[in-house]
Amino acid sequence: TTEYETIRTELHGEGARRVALVTLNRPKQLNALNDRLMTELGAALKAFDADDGVGCIVITGSEKAFAAGADISEMKPLTFIDAYRTDFISRNWETIRSVRKPVIAAVAGYALGGGCELAMMCDFIIAADTAKFGQPEIKIGIFPGAGGTQRLPRAISKAKAMDMILTGRNMDADEAERAGLVSRVVPAAALIATALEAAETICGYGAPSVTMAKECVNRAYEGTLADGVAFERRLFHAVFATADQKEGMDAFLTKRPPQFRHE
Ligand code: CAA
Repeated sequence: TTEYETIRTELHGEGARRVALVTLNRPKQLNALNDRLMTELGAALKAFDADDGVGCIVITGSEKAFAAGADISEMKPLTFIDAYRTDFISRNWETIRSVRKPVIAAVAGYALGGGCELAMMCDFIIAADTAKFGQPEIKIGIFPGAGGTQRLPRAISKAKAMDMILTGRNMDADEAERAGLVSRVVPAAALIATALEAAETICGYGAPSVTMAKECVNRAYEGTLADGVAFERRLFHAVFATADQKEGMDAFLTKRPPQFRHE
């Protein structure tokens, strides 16, 4: 396995397609997302996306913090021209959006600023009851710069997003669930097991239909309804070209478990 300095990676589960668990690992800095970490995270995600033995990816942090934001000590000296010339934030933060396999964020503790934005870049968020979400950038003289001003209003409504981004207040896990930011809240001790179980469930399904479903939902998130429905129709027709569709339906009709071949 590849050695990283700021993340840890491991494989879970059995079978042809396993779960890759990526743990953000700068505990002393509450997993502040510096350039090194985002580059390593991007490299790990790309490698797992290309690995046929991996069906789903889980990203998590520590008990205290998923991530407390972009690294403020790294950002403080940044000038406009540095940020513009190096395409600051986009350059190694956007990799996660190009991953075609499902990516689940398992969040305990702080998910603030870039940490909240990173969680929102994942396909869904499972939260521990200790999770705290916020976009506190306004308190340090900036505002969210890794998609927060765009993804938060889509996830939780304009009113709530404005409230969070302009006041910098945190949401606890229950409020985040009520607002629709997270898909489930579980006791902190059950967080990783719950996320791995969801990921293993996904790994058991036919990979083409999983990938197509993710693509279609992202289209809903990013485009208009008419465009999204047309896109869904095209991929829905395509899924009938897969062996897994015949297998899944035959298994149902003959009352036996399916043997997906991920093709
Ligand atoms: N960047 C760099 N270092 C950070 C950090 C960050 N975002 N968050 C925490 N740390 C460091 C602290 O400086 C501290 O380091 P030292 O031990 O060397 O002093 C260490 O992590 C532990 O943090 P605290 O002592 O502050 O821990 P706490 O339990 O008292 O407080 C906290 C926890 C409320 C999360 C607090 O650390 C905090 O407010 N952090 C900053 C949150 C923030 O503003 N995030 C947004 C960053 S900007 C951004 O993300 C831009 C973007 O849109 C991409």
